[in-house]
Amino acid sequence: QKQMGLKDYYKNYFPIGVAVSAHNVLSSDTTFILQQFNSLTPENAMKMGPIHPKENEYNFKEADAIVNFAQRHHLKVRGHNLCWHEQTPDWIFKDANGGLVSKEVLLERLKQHIFTVVNRYKGKIYAWDVVNEAVDDDSTRLLRNSLWYQICGIDFIVKAFEYAHEADPNAILFYNDYNTERPEKRARVLQLMQQLKALKVPVMGIGLQGHWSIYEPTQTDLQQTIQSFAALGLQVQITELDVSIYPWEKKLRPKTEKDIDAYTPELEHKQDEQYKMVFKVFRANKQKITGVTFWNLTDRTTWLDNYPVPGRKNYPLLFDANYQPKKAYWDVVNFKQ
Ligand code: G3I
Repeated sequence: QKQMGLKDYYKNYFPIGVAVSAHNVLSSDTTFILQQFNSLTPENAMKMGPIHPKENEYNFKEADAIVNFAQRHHLKVRGHNLCWHEQTPDWIFKDANGGLVSKEVLLERLKQHIFTVVNRYKGKIYAWDVVNEAVDDDSTRLLRNSLWYQICGIDFIVKAFEYAHEADPNAILFYNDYNTERPEKRARVLQLMQQLKALKVPVMGIGLQGHWSIYEPTQTDLQQTIQSFAALGLQVQITELDVSIYPWEKKLRPKTEKDIDAYTPELEHKQDEQYKMVFKVFRANKQKITGVTFWNLTDRTTWLDNYPVPGRKNYPLLFDANYQPKKAYWDVVNFKQ
């Protein structure tokens, strides 16, 4: 009998995805991936920097490898992402003299980029993170003061969605961001979504990244977040889930805990409780949630190793460094159907 995986336990709820590199899908990780997941997100391969390093040069190799693997095995793919302030190549903002380009030129380049990438994977990528992390963390302004914003104002967001929709009218288009459960940031992301809706921008979903910790979010904040975005008519996906054993904010750390801590049974227990809670909320909202994706495969390697504290290991996923399910895994899958 075939062993069940996350995707099987959750088949009546939503697809369960994972962020991957091309290396993951070309290595012995494939057995594990195919057993547990039915959706993939390229962790880095489709970002503008890696995929479009120069104006007339695209590098599709890694992105193609991921999409081809998904096609062969009937996995869904979420595209990530079309417009962001990080991992963006320098050339896109620069004119021939090294100065900044005009808004018209930048939007034209954005259009070419989006048309080329979206068109290449049309019919193979069902959802795109069109704009990533455009809302500021600081409450004094709505939008992050990136070069995109400095040159285009809010129009880079409006246009990115319009271009993506034109390139693939069937793709589900997401705005994706982090800390969306914190009431202050949530309010600002909601404000942006309302503005886009009022402008008839084809934004169809909200990606809650879900880079959480054993300290946050609370059940109430999570529930309220899912509900308030769904109330705007957006489908909700958890796009980059992990549960750090360290707090994101120093002030959330109890005095007894150190900056760098061993993965003690107590921390693992708290993490287990947090995973149980968030999946309970996801299941209760299955009408609103159309996907849950983990950010990396196992605790062997995660983007949280050394981030934001160099030299610090983290253990944020449901599988240990030997690809074995942790207790939290069993608590997430053993629920009453
Ligand atoms: O590919 C180069 C390699 O050639 C070079 O030798 C090496 C040396 O540092 O760097 C490699 O690039 C790294 C890349 O990951 C691939 O491993 C970059 O330095 C590194 O900055 C990059 O980090 C990624 C990060 O986004 C970039 O900001 C993480 O892997 C990726 O997990 C992370 O993902 C983001 C989401 O896209 C958006 N939400 C937040 C999330 C976590 O930051």
